[in-house]
Amino acid sequence: MGMVLDELGTPIVLAPMAGGPSTPELAAAVSDAGGLGFIAAGYLSAADLGDRIERTRALTSAPFGVNLFYPSAPSPTETFGAYVTDLAREFPVGEPRYDSDDWDAKLDLLTAAPVPVVSCTFGCPSAPEITRLHAAGSEVWVTVTSVAEAKYAVEAGADALIAQGSEAGGHRGTFADRPADDLTDPLGLLALVQLLTAAVHTPIVATGGITTGAGLAAALSAGAAAAQIGTAFLRCPEAGTAPLLRDAITLDTPTMLTRAFTGRRARGLRNLFMLEHPDAPAAYPEIHYATGPLRAAARTEGNADAVNLWAGQAHSLAPELPAGELVRQLSESAKDALKRALSIRIQGC
Ligand SMILES: Cc1cc2nc3c(=O)[nH]c(=O)nc-3n(C[C@H](O)[C@H](O)[C@H](O)COP(=O)(O)O)c2cc1C
Repeated sequence: MGMVLDELGTPIVLAPMAGGPSTPELAAAVSDAGGLGFIAAGYLSAADLGDRIERTRALTSAPFGVNLFYPSAPSPTETFGAYVTDLAREFPVGEPRYDSDDWDAKLDLLTAAPVPVVSCTFGCPSAPEITRLHAAGSEVWVTVTSVAEAKYAVEAGADALIAQGSEAGGHRGTFADRPADDLTDPLGLLALVQLLTAAVHTPIVATGGITTGAGLAAALSAGAAAAQIGTAFLRCPEAGTAPLLRDAITLDTPTMLTRAFTGRRARGLRNLFMLEHPDAPAAYPEIHYATGPLRAAARTEGNADAVNLWAGQAHSLAPELPAGELVRQLSESAKDALKRALSIRIQGC
């Protein structure tokens, strides 16, 4: 049987976007337009994930995927205690607790009621976990940010690799988020896709900073089988994007990487909170829970300076269009871009 990627009407994968933007309506609209819709399971209980899968199934008969956060190890209090105490002097903070994002229960749910694709970020499932999902009939896609992670995921049995360039909005999918690694630059998408196509034979889904058909065409030309697109869908009416973010991404504000909000490196629109906490420690999900109340308060007050505004580097090009229409426009303009590229005279041709 062919892979889900081979059956798509157009090589567009909707990026899962946990924390609000991902909705059954958005996933269904992308799948119905010939792309692959995704449900983000991050931050949801397994029971709520089950409801979202049901709602998506009721909206579309086309395939869609579910994205899981792979659990990281708990962090010792020494890594985050001083940061949380410092925040508490100025903001309302919550308990910096640890959980696995309901990993075991979500895996049980997905093996009992499978979906065509299960993707993971923040780490690679073990070979037995991948075998379990395969036995249920699902493909397993793993987000990678380097050649070493890609080789590890292929060895574990991944069916496709989501190559996440540093341009990407939201959290980096890096298996281990280590501040010591900040000394070297994270790979941009074009470099990463070229390195991965040379290193492995597994299909690659390119993600990060693709907001136009020309960007999609570039990823495909570099060797990707499809592109996973996030920020470009944030302004669609079907998305559950918070009003603050929906408005802010239209501006020219630069983005930056930060651990200030969640204790895991993520890209968002630059704001005061990020600038004031450049050395926030790596402790996910403890810091995510600690900053929950301050982010909620900022959202209620409409204060864009104390809430995470996750977005990719090409955010200001995100259009306000129904998701199905956006999929069609991206496909058409990617075709035009590829035709234009073919018409360029290459020496000797
Ligand atoms: C608001 C937002 C939330 C995100 N949430 C998730 C998530 O839950 N799971 C995941 O694998 N990736 C998540 N990402 C990253 C996307 O999968 C993807 O890598 C990214 O959107 C690509 O860059 P782009 O936003 O420039 O298209 C998120 C990105 C954004 C912008």
